[in-house]
Amino acid sequence: MPTVRSAAEAHEKTPTVIFPGSAEAARALAAEVRQLIESRAREGRNAVLGLATGSTPVPFYRELIRLHREEKLSFKNVVTFNLDEYYGLPADHPESYARFMREQLFDSIDIPSDHINIPSGTIPSDQVFEHCRQYEEKIEAAGGIDFQILGIGRTGHIGFNEPGSSRDSLTRRITLDRVTRQDAAADFRGEENVPRFAITMGVGTILRAKKIVLMAWGENKAGVVARAVEGPVTEAVSASFLQDHDAARFFIDAGASRELTRVKLPWLVGPVSWTPAETRRAVVWQAMKTKHPVLKLVDEDYNEHGLSDLLSEQGPGYQLNIRIFNRLQHTITGWPGGKPDADDTFRPERAKPFPKRCLILSPEPQDAIVGMGGTLDRLVEQGHDVRLIALTSGSLRVPDSEADKFAATLSELGEAVKDPAGWKEQTEYAHEILRLLEEKGEFGEDPPLLRQLKGLILRGELRDAAHALGLGADRVHFLDLPFYEKGRYRRFVTTDDDLAALSNLLERHKPHQIYCTGDAADPSSVAGITFKLLDAVLERCEGQDWCGTCSLWSYRGREKPLEAHEIDMAVPMSPLQLERKVRSLSRYGSLSSLELNIADRNRQHAGDYDALGLAEYEAIEAFQRRSRV
Ligand code: F6R
Repeated sequence: MPTVRSAAEAHEKTPTVIFPGSAEAARALAAEVRQLIESRAREGRNAVLGLATGSTPVPFYRELIRLHREEKLSFKNVVTFNLDEYYGLPADHPESYARFMREQLFDSIDIPSDHINIPSGTIPSDQVFEHCRQYEEKIEAAGGIDFQILGIGRTGHIGFNEPGSSRDSLTRRITLDRVTRQDAAADFRGEENVPRFAITMGVGTILRAKKIVLMAWGENKAGVVARAVEGPVTEAVSASFLQDHDAARFFIDAGASRELTRVKLPWLVGPVSWTPAETRRAVVWQAMKTKHPVLKLVDEDYNEHGLSDLLSEQGPGYQLNIRIFNRLQHTITGWPGGKPDADDTFRPERAKPFPKRCLILSPEPQDAIVGMGGTLDRLVEQGHDVRLIALTSGSLRVPDSEADKFAATLSELGEAVKDPAGWKEQTEYAHEILRLLEEKGEFGEDPPLLRQLKGLILRGELRDAAHALGLGADRVHFLDLPFYEKGRYRRFVTTDDDLAALSNLLERHKPHQIYCTGDAADPSSVAGITFKLLDAVLERCEGQDWCGTCSLWSYRGREKPLEAHEIDMAVPMSPLQLERKVRSLSRYGSLSSLELNIADRNRQHAGDYDALGLAEYEAIEAFQRRSRV
């Protein structure tokens, strides 16, 4: 544990290590855990680990498995206590934490099964209290937890200690927060299917561990990480209690560090090298904070907000304001594919070639329309050769009710057609789907036939949504990347087949523009995985003609929206265009509440630009230029 903190880390009340990515952090953590296990083994003692589930620890568990397989790390002397379990789910349920742990770790290492402890999701209600008391006793009897691994929820929970959990809380049954249930909605194919209760270790149980590491990846966690690490210790953010533990640390990736003071407002913690990006960030931040449009910022604003060195280096203030104002102004364009025959010196996208071949990559079928439906609309209208590519089928997020609706209609058609005998195959198919739905029950895993149907339903919806934006069905393509077809949320594993499919796509189309997302997402999410694949494919393509001239624009879907200073291209939308986008989104039967409310985000971008003193638009879609190509 670092004892001397740099000035940059001074705001952080729990020591925090920022790694370039989750893989590096997982390796560092696994190395520490290995040391503990091996030193205990030498002493003939057990090592007691507290374990978490969810997406976050997956890279860590993969590294532990690698250490076991390749470096012969034994887990025979390891005892584990899991943080929590959904209440109501049996241990073999596909989303139960018991099953998650078996699949992600326990089945692949040599831990004795009687060393594994996970709260029961099926203990009868009247025995819950006693079960929780015994869980605490078992931890005590094992000698307490030596090393506790944590993730963090967007509510700031550790374990399932939702806001309001007290510092001394122990293992108990709790009610899950709405945000937590929204975050789990995709796993359960709809928020309404997510269990309402869980059994979790308490904050007090966690704080008794001798050593604690909380991991967090991706920008969606950045806000809550900053509140937990830099904010006051409060029941509103359970993870903030870690500030009071003398051996707790945060291991985070670059995305999750984005809201820490040393990253977000570096001028407040030390000298800054004033690159154009840092300058833009500082001026925009200051304008937002003082609620002054950029052109109305005065020298006193700079001085009072820790920016006097920026002023002395790049002032006078008014000149600096004008430079940043112009820079922001130049991000706005109604011509995302470039304006033909116009001077493009200060435009985000070059004029030539025109029309452009534009590839819009959508990790799951709905993402691109959510993130950039208005821009897609414009590209089509302005005559570009636009292709919308659904990288995965999205079948995992389709609720059973959609498949049921389709199969029921198909079956009824069988009765309505003139020649039912000629419809026999379809009727059998419909009955088979209905049978599979019945057989697997509410939470069972989808057999392949059902997954296929759900994928086809989404295909129809995407074509429909694209059509509403003027894009014909022949321009919508489905890649069905194998990692998704073979996997489940939070547990996807990519192979060379995924790379090959994506690489063939790019080779075939040789795009001038690629629109993508996922660069800031949780690396284990579908968007995060597909972005990583794209990055790898583009690296391989480097040197090819098309690749050298292709521009790469990143949009945000479900992830944290871009901030005004991060936007390189702002595509405004009129009220009518926004309405068209919202109407096209209504073609989807399985959108999350966040996706349904995307218009608010588009309006927020416009509000920010307005506040900065730029033009006042109804809505804006925002893009960041990616630098690889
Ligand atoms: C899971 C747990 C939770 C998760 C948190 C983050 O055992 O205790 O606190 O760590 O909800 O979940 P992911 O990692 O899926 O973002």
